[in-house]
Amino acid sequence: MTSMTPHVALVTGCSSGIGHATALALHRAGLVVYASARRPDTLADLAAEGIETVRLDVTDDESITAAVKRVTADRGRLDVLVNNAGYRLVGPVEEVPPDEVVRLFDTNVFGVVRLTYQVLPGMRERGYGRIVNLSSVFGRFTIPGGTYPAATKHAIEAFSDGLRLEVAKFGIRVVLIEPNSVRSRYDANAVWSGDPTKGPYAKFNADVARWHKALNSPPHNLAGRFQVSSEDVARVISRAVTSPRPRARYPVGKLAQPLFLLRRMLPDAVFDGFVRLQFPAP
Ligand SMILES: NC(=O)c1ccc[n+]([C@@H]2O[C@H](COP(=O)([O-])OP(=O)(O)OC[C@H]3O[C@@H](n4cnc5c(N)ncnc54)[C@H](OP(=O)(O)O)[C@@H]3O)[C@@H](O)[C@H]2O)c1
Repeated sequence: MTSMTPHVALVTGCSSGIGHATALALHRAGLVVYASARRPDTLADLAAEGIETVRLDVTDDESITAAVKRVTADRGRLDVLVNNAGYRLVGPVEEVPPDEVVRLFDTNVFGVVRLTYQVLPGMRERGYGRIVNLSSVFGRFTIPGGTYPAATKHAIEAFSDGLRLEVAKFGIRVVLIEPNSVRSRYDANAVWSGDPTKGPYAKFNADVARWHKALNSPPHNLAGRFQVSSEDVARVISRAVTSPRPRARYPVGKLAQPLFLLRRMLPDAVFDGFVRLQFPAP
């Protein structure tokens, strides 16, 4: 491939937030971008910018195969995959229905795995690829009420670490993006379990709801004060995609690095105390 040939990127979950901003950022950086979503009508404004759009549900193998086939048929290759699609499931472990947990892992973890299977052979044959996986600060520690989404992001961290080592030799780089809280539709799209009116977790569930309110509206809590925009995250993703030597991890937001430092330095009991100060706990 010559330096004149733009790289071809597929981004999942572009109907809103980080995926939407990333499709625009990569397009403006000169890549050929295929923005995908479960409902392609949500991509009309991206299409108007000249971005290719395609239907893709990360839980549906057929739609993934069709989307990857379309990109490779159109362009002869797929160089960059941004695994962005995902959502948050809120609630205490005991009160979240098990089938909701399975559904969450199907999207946040197995969605990434499915896409990775489909793009690796082509990237390996061409000796070039970038796979960018959306993790979170909760890929490195966990808060009460956010155990399941944190478990999916911890899985993505482990998956990416292993994959990075397996495919580096073939010219494929695997990158983790680890934002602190981001302004997007993430909270609006969150699935809530947990009863704030009765049961052993009632007060906790009500406190978690209040915490989320303070995340998104004044007076903001700590996480709310340090929220970044989806465009901030997209800029970092664009840097990771275009850098000749991308890092393995890109924390995003002023809280991310200090949180990781505390998690590394503090004994578990002391870190638990810090979490209890900042987040509701039963
Ligand atoms: N916002 C934060 O605070 C934050 C922090 C750290 C990491 N992240 C991560 O960043 C990523 C993007 O989140 P966001 O903040 O941009 O939230 P968002 O605005 O809710 O966007 C999530 C996107 O994922 C899509 N999606 C959900 N399930 C899907 C499926 N089965 N197939 C295809 N697309 C699906 C949604 O599409 P629909 O419109 O069809 O639902 C939407 O486009 C997620 O992986 C999230 O975990 C977010």
